[in-house]
Amino acid sequence: MIIGCPKEIKPQEFRVGVTPVAAREAVAHGHKVLIEAGAGIGAGFSDADYIEAGAEIADGAADVFARAEMIVKVKEPQAGERRMLREGQVLFTYLHLAPDPDQTRDLLASGCTAIAYETVTDRNGGLPLLAPMSEVAGKLAPQMGAWTLQKANGGRGVLMGGVPGVGPAEVVVIGGGVVGTHAARVAAGMGAKVTVLDRSLPRMRYLDDVFGGQFGTRYASAGNTAELVAQADMVIGAVLVPGAAAPKLVSRAQLSDMKPGAAIVDVAIDQGGCFETSKATTHQDPIYEVDGIMHYCVANMPGAVARTSTLALGNATMPFLIALGDKGWKQACTDDPHLLDGLNVHAGKLTNYAVGKALGIDVLSPNLALKA
Ligand SMILES: NC(=O)c1ccc[n+]([C@@H]2O[C@H](COP(=O)([O-])OP(=O)(O)OC[C@H]3O[C@@H](n4cnc5c(N)ncnc54)[C@H](O)[C@@H]3O)[C@@H](O)[C@H]2O)c1
Repeated sequence: MIIGCPKEIKPQEFRVGVTPVAAREAVAHGHKVLIEAGAGIGAGFSDADYIEAGAEIADGAADVFARAEMIVKVKEPQAGERRMLREGQVLFTYLHLAPDPDQTRDLLASGCTAIAYETVTDRNGGLPLLAPMSEVAGKLAPQMGAWTLQKANGGRGVLMGGVPGVGPAEVVVIGGGVVGTHAARVAAGMGAKVTVLDRSLPRMRYLDDVFGGQFGTRYASAGNTAELVAQADMVIGAVLVPGAAAPKLVSRAQLSDMKPGAAIVDVAIDQGGCFETSKATTHQDPIYEVDGIMHYCVANMPGAVARTSTLALGNATMPFLIALGDKGWKQACTDDPHLLDGLNVHAGKLTNYAVGKALGIDVLSPNLALKA
């Protein structure tokens, strides 16, 4: 198969869909890998790295889209990229179609077969191609929060780990899933006093069993949340209700109960955020102040560490990439129902029920798409 990887064109996106390691693996499986010149630069991979891996460098995105049978990316295709997709071509990338009717319309019109990273599942009910980015964002959250807490950035001027004779920062993490657990581990590793709030008792039992000595857990009732948020130097928002906007768990009125200069890091901002006062920010201008509380709400946190994120995503996508290349999408999805869960669009039809419901569009069963 000819596997093509264009350079990402979404603003501030430095990741790349195919790493040199993945390119080498695909070439070893007999595929041709076509990388747009400069596609890996933002993540620290030169064209020479790809050539050494056996890939071919293409002059521009148009060449990649024209020749490749499968396009592998990171972010959803932008309008100009969507115009280059064609019938029968496979697109393997993050799509997030539910809130994006324009993209959905263009993908349907193109006739392509689009498999979305974010809806591929695993046998434990997890989302294996989302988890690496949650791990990255979770580990980054206390790092960015610690920076936000510095006086020059408007913060309280509190050091995460304290020093002998001076207590550490108090960090509250709301939501103890993938993001929350990684955030809590790093915050605790920096020496902070950390409490994780969650509503899932099985999840809190797991956290207590595994990390009981490093951080505490509390049930995320409104009362407990209000009490802990008022005491905190830093609050990290990491909740997820699958398929829904994040619930607003801290109101604007509650900010006045918080310590002046405390930091809010709302990782759940990509689902609308779990603080009433959250609004999405960028890496250029990441923080803002509301009622004396500093907010960090960057919607694509993993972009800050593009190299680590690219490598982490590449590790997770590579087995699927190889299966799609070796077998073609139909056989690969027939053999692996978790990859079939990733099928969102095929030949002008939507094939994901959640997306269909969100956009009010009829859905073709993915199993029928396999037979089409
Ligand atoms: N900003 C970014 O760059 C970025 C990157 C990765 C993930 N995210 C976002 O981070 C959020 C968390 O992702 P995740 O992978 O950790 O999800 P996850 O499903 O692993 O964990 C979510 C946790 O939230 C808990 N929860 C749900 N409702 C709650 C409530 N009302 N109170 C307390 N806890 C509650 C769940 O029990 C679960 O343990 C998501 O919104 C995700 O989209 C953002």
